[in-house]
Amino acid sequence: MLKTKNLVSGYGKVPILHGVDFEINEGEIVSIIGRNGVGKSTFMKTIIGLNSSMSGEIEYSGEIINKKKPFERAWLGMGYVPQGHMVFPNLTVLENLEMGEQISKNGSSESNYDFIYEYFPILRERRTQKAGTMSGGQQAMLSIARVLTGNPKIILLDEPTEGVQPNIVDAIGEIILKINKELGITILLVEQHLGLIQSVSQRGFAMDKGVIVERLSREQIHDYEYIKKFLAI
Ligand SMILES: Nc1ncnc2c1ncn2[C@@H]1O[C@H](COP(=O)(O)OP(=O)(O)OP(=O)(O)O)[C@@H](O)[C@H]1O
Ligand SMILES: [Mg+2]
Repeated sequence: MLKTKNLVSGYGKVPILHGVDFEINEGEIVSIIGRNGVGKSTFMKTIIGLNSSMSGEIEYSGEIINKKKPFERAWLGMGYVPQGHMVFPNLTVLENLEMGEQISKNGSSESNYDFIYEYFPILRERRTQKAGTMSGGQQAMLSIARVLTGNPKIILLDEPTEGVQPNIVDAIGEIILKINKELGITILLVEQHLGLIQSVSQRGFAMDKGVIVERLSREQIHDYEYIKKFLAI
């Protein structure tokens, strides 16, 4: 579904990714793990088009998309949940959801938010509340709900549990599994929280210094001694 070949990108003239080879198939949940600053977010931003690639290929549904603008990639069904959640703090929950919907041509209309509220009942209760006044966990949920309003085929989730209380982490894990299974959405996850990585990932990639250093099976992901070297702990 999504594939990169020798992908190089960075900031200004400085490369951060030095040739990333990666692929995810339709319907999969795949994680990328790696210590702080190795280039995980840069990789996601390059896939979604917020960072331009210097060389290499990004292929999505059989098409090379390196030159496409971020909104064009959204129209093709690519959704992105940035690190830090990035909800609009001064907009209400409902207004945040509407912003997500407008990014995509495939968006659901407001009357159709029911399926989103089924995954996130708390957001129905809070729909008139300013997003910035909610807890970290609720903002994390809103950031995932917002991307769902665009009916994406794949979602790139960058550290959804950052700044989220432990009891909400499990809820986020269950939501990831459900939207994958029930809505058929492919998930690419960047995470530091090992419990979440283990509970949702079918396989993974380890990144270090801007390259993929290992491909990880589900068994390896569940072997703490094996993968701890790739985690920021
Ligand atoms: N906007 C930017 N301009 C210049 N350099 C940047 C920018 N964003 C990130 N970098 C640098 O690129 C490198 C990779 O950063 P990136 O955010 O991709 O890492 P990461 O793996 O997501 O880290 P973390 O786990 O802390 O989120 C780091 O050295 C970082 O300082
Ligand atoms: Mg990051």
